[in-house]
Amino acid sequence: MSPSPSTQSSLTRNEALTLSTIASACLTILANALREDADIPLIVSLALSGLAFSASYALIRWLGPAFMRAGFRGVDLAKPVRREIPEGMGAVCAAVYLFVMIVFVPFVFYRDVVAATSGGGNRDVVVSLRDEAAERGVFLHRFPHSKLASYLSAMVSLHTVASLGLADDLFDIRWRHKFFIPAFAAIPLLVVYAVDFGVTSVVVPRLLQPCLGPLLDLGGLYYVYMAAVAIFGPNSINILAGINGIEVAQSVVIASLLALNDALYLLPPSALLPRLAGLAGKPYPHPATDSHLFSLSFLLPFLGVSLALLCHNAYPARVFVGDTYCYFAGTVFVVVGILGHFSKTLLLLLVPQIFNFVYSAPQLFGLVPCPRHRMPRFNARTGLLEPSVTTWPDGKPPRKAVEWGLRTLGRLGLLRVVVDKGEDGKERIVETSNLTLLNLWLVWRGPMKESRLTLEVTMLQAAMGLAGLVVRYRLALLVFSQDNI
Ligand code: UD1
Ligand code: MG
Repeated sequence: MSPSPSTQSSLTRNEALTLSTIASACLTILANALREDADIPLIVSLALSGLAFSASYALIRWLGPAFMRAGFRGVDLAKPVRREIPEGMGAVCAAVYLFVMIVFVPFVFYRDVVAATSGGGNRDVVVSLRDEAAERGVFLHRFPHSKLASYLSAMVSLHTVASLGLADDLFDIRWRHKFFIPAFAAIPLLVVYAVDFGVTSVVVPRLLQPCLGPLLDLGGLYYVYMAAVAIFGPNSINILAGINGIEVAQSVVIASLLALNDALYLLPPSALLPRLAGLAGKPYPHPATDSHLFSLSFLLPFLGVSLALLCHNAYPARVFVGDTYCYFAGTVFVVVGILGHFSKTLLLLLVPQIFNFVYSAPQLFGLVPCPRHRMPRFNARTGLLEPSVTTWPDGKPPRKAVEWGLRTLGRLGLLRVVVDKGEDGKERIVETSNLTLLNLWLVWRGPMKESRLTLEVTMLQAAMGLAGLVVRYRLALLVFSQDNI
């Protein structure tokens, strides 16, 4: 499936055949699931994810020209010939995803609805109308309203963030104006967390236990922390961006690792998690099973739509993902992290994003000038990417403290700093590479092709994520005296 990089808007024969085969297989699985009373939400979720992949793949191709006409278009800056291609295609993914997640609701709650309403599987139970509970209108009391609330709150957050992303793709909202909006989108999640789970304590590392005790209740601060995660997630994907495929590739890696983390809890214990954590022999099911099923059911369709987008956005990109996708992807991770109760494990999988954010801070917070684009610079002569730079003209040198910071980063090999002798004979900084992980990688590894840079940074993401999971399961007990697994 690799059509030529043009504004082609129809599927090739091969593509149409592959997509219809995937869609037919998934529809068959769905039909079987319906016949067999639908008590297999994971299989349904897998089938819906396959459908989501096919639908997104085809729609992204078909809707390209319509997006361009509506003004959703951008110039591919790292190419010898700069072409305009459709932008904001993450909106298609978000729409397909939300649609699939809505269709999924009856499957997730099928058994609960049937049992609680005395239908289907519970037909022999007679519900008396004079029954006191029925008169008070609470005969659905066994229905897991809290689970539905979690599910719906996640959908509200995702809807809100997708709208923000769309507005951003259309109106190019200033960075400082849009930065905090994901925190508002997270309010439903936090309310459900408070009502449903409400744990605000963290396990204290062994070293600090003599002073703080085994558990530290952070109270309201824990919600501030989760709001911070909610702001960080979407923004962190959006600023590790600017070369073909990187936004989606990093998201696919993070989602796959989160799904792997869920699978560790859901697969038979003799196989995975307890062995990893040195807890072989613990009885199954694990208490966190439900949260991890919840998480998987959000991640599988996300992987479906993202892989479809990656096929179109990989080098040479035929569409851009837009801020819609970046915000949406980050919020999917925040949703599963907060409602699945593993926000700290999530942070372990976001180490490259955390590094990129902290490293970017001087530019994000105005200490160092921040150009509109900080993506690597394309050298038309070599066809390779090089670090993009901020220049410090004669009249506008960095302030003393900033200069000291930049020089220190340069000495540590964390920045390319170009110095020159001024008219007074004193050395001064004239140029520094932009503070992003992508530029830093180029400083370390030298100029390279765009596709190579995407691949290397994606591999780095995967390696660091896997290392994060090993730390989580193998090393946590060295630092903490107990583990919530
Ligand atoms: C963020 C970054 C910015 C980076 C940009 C790239 C910060 C504070 N902002 O801004 O430095 O340059 O993302 O997405 O770190 N583009 C390409 N090739 C690609 C992807 C994007 O040329 O593979 C260009 C296109 O012109 C596209 C534009 O980037 O139209 C999209 O930029 P946008 O997502 O609007 O930038 P921001 O998210 O504001
Ligand atoms: Mg962006």
